[in-house]
Amino acid sequence: MSHDKAQLTLPNQSPVELPIYQPTLGTDVIDINTLHNVFTYDPGFTATASCESKITFIDGEKGILLYRGYPIEQLAEQAEFLEVCYLLLHGELPTHMQKEQFNHRITIHTMVHEQISKLFQGFRRDAHPMAIMLGVVGALSAFYHDSLDIQNPQHRERAAFRLIAKMPTIAAMCYKYSIGQPFIYPQNDLNYAENFLHMMFGVPCAQEKPNAILARALDRIFTLHADHEQNASTSTVRLAGSTGANPFACISAGIAALWGPAHGGANEACLNMLREIGSVSHINDYIKRAKDKNDPFRLMGFGHRVYKNYDPRAKVMRQTCHEVLKEVGAADEPLFKLALELERIALEDEYFVERKLYPNVDFYSGITLSAIGIPSTMFTVIFALARTVGWISQWNEMIADNARIGRPRQLYTGPTQRDFVPLDQRG
Ligand code: SDX
Repeated sequence: MSHDKAQLTLPNQSPVELPIYQPTLGTDVIDINTLHNVFTYDPGFTATASCESKITFIDGEKGILLYRGYPIEQLAEQAEFLEVCYLLLHGELPTHMQKEQFNHRITIHTMVHEQISKLFQGFRRDAHPMAIMLGVVGALSAFYHDSLDIQNPQHRERAAFRLIAKMPTIAAMCYKYSIGQPFIYPQNDLNYAENFLHMMFGVPCAQEKPNAILARALDRIFTLHADHEQNASTSTVRLAGSTGANPFACISAGIAALWGPAHGGANEACLNMLREIGSVSHINDYIKRAKDKNDPFRLMGFGHRVYKNYDPRAKVMRQTCHEVLKEVGAADEPLFKLALELERIALEDEYFVERKLYPNVDFYSGITLSAIGIPSTMFTVIFALARTVGWISQWNEMIADNARIGRPRQLYTGPTQRDFVPLDQRG
């Protein structure tokens, strides 16, 4: 990597030279590794590159998202999700033969160990599906001992196949458990998204093929959510992975981080917000609340740490939302019209324009998933299902780069050293 140099001059010290690395796309970075008597301070990592990566690139100003160099719009339109999984994992689109082999290896891993269904019995039926998924995915490390050795490439590959293949099965089991219906086994003659819909909505007493248009829409939604640079949950997976933790534990950590409403939980929060707003006549009241610093309310599905332009995924999601609503005969879905009007008003409001707050991937996903028949408590579960390939790809890259254990420093502002005060002297 070619580099210029930056100079850092500290009080009463001679200037320190720091290498500047130029990326293939995006912003130069200054390597501060050689700093020893001063730390940099960047809570929230707004200006800190945590790693080098070749997987995904976002240009927040232009609203560009590339997976291994391919624009998200083209992948969402032309590729199947499993092709995108191959691309993220291996760096290139699969040939016809590679695609067939990859799809077959995923298909033969879709079932889970039969004992895993017993894990569900330990949860209340009204447990949030994310709480169940968090526990069950972490517990996979108790079942698949031949994919735990992170230094063994075969183990890593097997773990990747198992996670990508089993997440839809586990997600559907979370849903079935919450509604008291029997678990539905995967079917090898269905594609990835069809299989998920089959396991979600199939019942033992009827054999119905999933709706192909809804399955294609869901497949596209998986692609839109597959990876996104070093977001909070991916950074969590990398940090957990840097300790040598097994892949199932690392993905479970990523699921935990994704659950927050500021991150992957925003799709569920956004639909709940639209339902709370209820009608176009209430929009201005909520816009006012979103702008009020004393009110914790934020416009869910709006704003982004990196995108300071329209999230390209939100554009594809809005189109997909329209298609799904039409297919299910809900083209006049009031919540969709409300969302469109809320977007229009917000994008004309100087508070949002000034801060470059645009709809993000979560703004339309909730309405779309709801129209497919998926309850809002399952939205982040589906985000986790789709993001698993991104987490695993980034985790693999970190291990291949022999990353050192992640251990940030701090700005300490607590008490200076003082002596212990025995209890009888504390009043
Ligand atoms: C995802 O990182 C990723 O890539 C994440 C993700 C992925 O694919 O992995 O893209 C998925 O998490 C998308 C984001 C989903 N979250 C939401 O929709 C929740 C609502 N959005 C906000 O919470 C917020 O926009 C964040 C968390 C997304 C970003 O927060 P930042 O970058 O820390 O921005 P900020 O809080 O510093 O906001 C800057 C200003 C502030 O106002 P000022 O203090 O400058 O006056 O914008 C305001 C904020 O108050 N602001 C909002 C707002 N988002 C930011 N005001 C009202 N409503 C909002 N949604």
